[in-house]
Order: sequence, then C-alpha cells, then structure tokens
Amino acid sequence: MLTFAKNLPEMSRTLIAPSVLAADFANLQRDVEMINRSEADWFHIDIMDGVFVPNISFGMPVLRDLAKHANKTIDVHLMIVDPDRYIKTFADLGSDVLTVHYEACTHLHRTLQAIKAEGMQAGVALNPHTSVALLEDVIQDIDLVCLMSVNPGFGGQKFIENTYEKVRALKALIERKGANTKIEIDGGVTDQNAAALVEAGADVLVAGSFVFKSEDPIATVANLKALTA
Ligand code: DX5
Ligand code: ZN
Repeated sequence: MLTFAKNLPEMSRTLIAPSVLAADFANLQRDVEMINRSEADWFHIDIMDGVFVPNISFGMPVLRDLAKHANKTIDVHLMIVDPDRYIKTFADLGSDVLTVHYEACTHLHRTLQAIKAEGMQAGVALNPHTSVALLEDVIQDIDLVCLMSVNPGFGGQKFIENTYEKVRALKALIERKGANTKIEIDGGVTDQNAAALVEAGADVLVAGSFVFKSEDPIATVANLKALTA
C-alpha cells in the first residue's frame, strides 16, 4: 500500500479545498489522485444524513477508502443531526478537521472539546441565516468557522452575496477576541468571487463544481491558488 506524508506544510496563506461531493464517484480513486497532484491544500468531505439537510451524500466506508489514497488534510463537514455520536468514528477514519453545524448542536462548547480530545481541529459551520455574533462566547475554542455561502445540502448552487458581510463581521470578531480561528467559505466559490472573499478575510475556500466539473481540474485549482495568493 502506498503511504503519503499527511499534513504537509501549508505554504501559502489561502487554502483551496476541493469538495469531493462534485467528484465522479465511479472514478473516486482517480479523482482523489488528481487532487493529490494538484496545488490544492485540503480535501473537503461533505457528510449528509437526509435529516439535517434534504440530501444524503456518502458515509463511512467511502471516507475510509478515500482516506487511504488522499495525501492532504482531510476536512470533514458534518451536515448531520446530533454529531456527537460520531466524533470518535470520524477521528478513526482519518479526519484532520471535523466541522459540526451550529444549528445541530445543543452543547456546542462540549462538542468542540470532544473533537479536540480526539486530536482533530474543531470546526463550526453556520447556515446562511445564522449570525456570526452567536459565536462571540465560543470563538476562542474554534479552529475553523465554515460560513455557508449556499444553503447546505447540494453542490452547484448560486453564491449568496451577503456572505462578504459575514466574513468581515467574523474577521472583526476573531481579531477582537484575539482568537486563532480560520475562516472557510463553502458553496458557490468560483474564480469570480475567490479574490474578493480572501480580501474580506477568508482563509480557506471550498470549491466543488467549479473544480471537478471544469475541463482541467488541476489547472482550475492552480488558477484559484494564483487568484488568492
Ligand atoms: C454544500 C456542501 C458544499 C458543496 C460545495 O452543502 O457543503 O461543500 O460541495 O459545492 P459547490 O462548490 O459546487 O457549491
Ligand atoms: Zn461542505
């Protein structure tokens, strides 16, 4: 079996995270290896339960096999109710970053500590209607805030313009609190909004359709890197 050095140093400031949801699932190993060869920084993995969001993506066996081939940071976005049930499972499957939804957690502070106790970075995703101000009392415990720039559940949706305002508000909150939190944008990212999102304060850009449905995904990732350098 091939082994890869994971968690390679992240050289540039803006990280690009192709969302595997838009890959060809009949050619998953091919698509994972393509991302390995690209300038992408992270693999973004969308797990949906058909309850928190009106769609079901894929589950543990797919992530387990995918992780065997991936040589970059594995960023798992849980769109599921009661995510506490699966924190250890996702750690064992190879997740490096585990993001739960604010709207799915009753005891968010406890959930974040449980994620970190399993050796992962702890992320919190906010739906488009959820204010960043709600993170005021917990921001110092969060490694990554994922701002949803579409309603979660599907790839290929249109970017919600209000996201820019949320990025700026979140950046201000992080600075005011002296927190060490990355800002990730998820949904509808393209070459048309990438640079402006970074300008507003984004650190990680997730891109699904824009990368995988393009003619040359490796060149598309390189273009996103260049636009956000
Ligand atoms: C949406 C997912 C996204 C999605 C992004 O619920 O969380 O990660 O894959 O796909 P695009 O980039 O196509 O909007
Ligand atoms: Zn996602």
